[in-house]
Amino acid sequence: MRFLKKGDKKKENPDKQIKPHPDLKVISGSEISGKRQQRPAQQTTPQQQAPQQNITLPNIKYKIAVASGKGGVGKSTVATNLAISLAQVGAKVGLMDADAYGPSIPTMMGIQENPKTSPERKLIPLVRHDIKLMSIGFMVPEEQAMIWRGPMLHSAIRQFLSDVDWGELDYLIIDLPPGTGDVALTLSQAIPLTGAVIVTTPQDVALADVRRGVAMFERLGVPILGIIENMSYFRCPHCNEKTEIFKADGGKKTSERFGVSFLGEIPLDAEVCTAGDLGVPIVAGHPDSHQAEAFSDVASALDQVLKESGDEDELTIL
Ligand SMILES: Nc1ncnc2c1ncn2[C@@H]1O[C@H](COP(=O)(O)OP(=O)(O)OP(=O)(O)O)[C@@H](O)[C@H]1O
Ligand SMILES: [Mg+2]
Repeated sequence: MRFLKKGDKKKENPDKQIKPHPDLKVISGSEISGKRQQRPAQQTTPQQQAPQQNITLPNIKYKIAVASGKGGVGKSTVATNLAISLAQVGAKVGLMDADAYGPSIPTMMGIQENPKTSPERKLIPLVRHDIKLMSIGFMVPEEQAMIWRGPMLHSAIRQFLSDVDWGELDYLIIDLPPGTGDVALTLSQAIPLTGAVIVTTPQDVALADVRRGVAMFERLGVPILGIIENMSYFRCPHCNEKTEIFKADGGKKTSERFGVSFLGEIPLDAEVCTAGDLGVPIVAGHPDSHQAEAFSDVASALDQVLKESGDEDELTIL
């Protein structure tokens, strides 16, 4: 072994040269830090980035994925309550459970039946709390473990979009499984998603996952409609005092950091949990409660974002 002297040229060991994986785009640190500023105002639309989208769903105005970077933050709770809040102000709403591994919609909406088939051989969605529903959980017993290979999952998701008689809808809310994976990819390739809302909890660790979720949708060309912070605070049922159990304002700060809308905060509340377990989401069972009000505020913030964006093609992609 010999130490390099000043003026010696360092030889590159060809085996140690880092070669990027062909599927990965390598970007420099300075590109990352200056990325947002350098982006042109008008970005490509999801349709331009994903030409393979071939299920158009023209009778559904807004197709919205509810996602998170990590599990258990309350996506399904938010998706069900959001769907019902939108229906309560007169919208026609469908809710698709895209979580094939752990479908929660049958339990949370309180319905477990086998969907019927129409003469056109389409699956007829079940209806509960005024919402049209479809879930893999309607077809398999709750306790049955489901093992999905990638292609099976892909075709199940596609069938829920193309072979279900959704009819005319203002909103199709799609409850995604946790994380950044296959289902979001399949979905974004199958239909022109209007956008995604990201659910998070206020802590730093969850917010790191949000960043990953945002980055994933960015790569898929899906606009982020906003961030919803769940379990934001606890309101004492006796003295009404508000306690921020986790760090305050995490979701708000993250949405500012990414330049997306902050759609609101949902309290951590035993009744929200119990209502979901009983199959009557809080906005359906206690529409006048402060918890239900938090969900309906989020629904109207989302509606506002969609209205301001006007045409879905004009939503800003990060
Ligand atoms: N605001 C809340 N207050 C109290 N409990 C909540 C709240 N939000 C969700 N929960 C409870 O937390 C648990 C997880 O919620 P949920 O199933 O909606 O999360 P998820 O993100 O869909 O999970 P997964 O990633 O497994 O799909 C449930 O028991 C639910 O009732
Ligand atoms: Mg869920």
